[in-house]
Amino acid sequence: MRVSIIGSGYVGSVSAACFAELGHEVICIDIDEEKVRQINAGIPPIWEEGLGELMDKHAEKDLIATSDYDYAVQNSDLSFICVGTPSDEDGSIDLGIVRAASASLGKAIGKKEHYHVVVMKSTVVPETTEKVVLPLIEEYSGKQAGRDFGIAMNPEFLREGKAVYDFMHPDKIVVGAIDKRSGFAVSELYRELDCEVTHTNPRTAEMIKYVNNSFLATKISFANEVGNICKQLDIDTYEVMDAVGTDFRIERNFLNSGAGFGGSCFPKDVKALIGKAMAISYEPELLRSVVSVNDRQPLKMIELLQDKIGELKGKRVAVLGLAFKNDTDDIRESRSIPAIAELLRLGADVVAYDPMAAESMKKIYPAIAYTDTAAQALVDADGCLIMTEWGEFKALDSEFDAMADRVVIDGRHMVNTKNIRSDIDYVGICW
Ligand SMILES: NC(=O)c1ccc[n+]([C@@H]2O[C@H](COP(=O)([O-])OP(=O)(O)OC[C@H]3O[C@@H](n4cnc5c(N)ncnc54)[C@H](O)[C@@H]3O)[C@@H](O)[C@H]2O)c1
Repeated sequence: MRVSIIGSGYVGSVSAACFAELGHEVICIDIDEEKVRQINAGIPPIWEEGLGELMDKHAEKDLIATSDYDYAVQNSDLSFICVGTPSDEDGSIDLGIVRAASASLGKAIGKKEHYHVVVMKSTVVPETTEKVVLPLIEEYSGKQAGRDFGIAMNPEFLREGKAVYDFMHPDKIVVGAIDKRSGFAVSELYRELDCEVTHTNPRTAEMIKYVNNSFLATKISFANEVGNICKQLDIDTYEVMDAVGTDFRIERNFLNSGAGFGGSCFPKDVKALIGKAMAISYEPELLRSVVSVNDRQPLKMIELLQDKIGELKGKRVAVLGLAFKNDTDDIRESRSIPAIAELLRLGADVVAYDPMAAESMKKIYPAIAYTDTAAQALVDADGCLIMTEWGEFKALDSEFDAMADRVVIDGRHMVNTKNIRSDIDYVGICW
């Protein structure tokens, strides 16, 4: 099949490369000319395990990129909208980019003779596909939904860092369409994958995505709340969750307490669902608590550091880990951002290290120091915060010897507490 993908970020570039791998002809559309150039050169615009190989294999053959909507729509049968859906000031979803992409897509569909299917893949709150995207496409194309073009919502559930694997091995594929013709066209794209397709309507598909992410975020905040209580009572929360997680109704995943969740999805999606609930006059108490527990966690790490080394003014603090999680260079909503902000507010000298994400963080904090290794960051440090679960932090040992004061505040349960050396003042955030 012939597919165009609007937006070549995490979701768009991974979907494009994977659809090409599944045997489809793919055209990426992006307004960022640099991303267009990179994709045409077989270079992924983001880092994802396995993406480089796929891009290199398919570029200039069945995977090309352009900024020309007309060309892409004329030469494809379906267009996926994969642009960003950031939060606005009050946390509700900002649909500005979706509207702009829908308008451009509508204009291009207006110039096409044949039937075309529009597929919303960006995460959007319920009713957006039917009440925002569909009318915009009709307005700008002068065509009628259901007759001249189809519309479907196909949420994406990939995990950053494992996005290619997740796309090729999904545990669910959800297609919410306005009619059978659109829904069938979308599910055909996934025919080669070993996964049943859930067919539903667009608003249910939109809700499934939000409920998925909000539930996982809720599990994390629940684990953090329990962890905070356990720490006060001298109970190992990991031991608690290991036992509780054996209950098949609960499951152990996402019960690791720590510095909280970040990334481009969980914080934004929980806030967007809160915004949607408010818009229909429902007060989402539980979801609000999920966010407030999460906001508190990184600041707890600074409090623990202060308990150990006192006032932070002029103290050198090593921040290990800047990405929102391991195996990605993505720093969006990373818990290290509020942690560094608080350290700077209190007058600390911050020395940061991350195996992948330092360049991204330099755009937010250009004035702090960055090192090439964790060992360098620890030299002469008065304290250290572990913010991301990079595997290499597990192996840190003699590197702590170079610290001026060996205080380690662990936000990710990275150091084996049973084997910790007695000369290291080790503090777990919830344990
Ligand atoms: N990142 C994830 O892990 C993930 C997972 C599931 C769902 N999602 C959702 O998918 C959507 C996209 O997220 P992302 O992380 O890939 O975003 P991103 O910001 O990485 O990428 C968006 C891309 O769209 C391009 N763009 C902006 N306006 C455009 C326009 N008018 N026409 C064409 N291209 C345009 C940008 O240049 C950028 O390359 C969001 O709704 C997000 O919530 C993301």
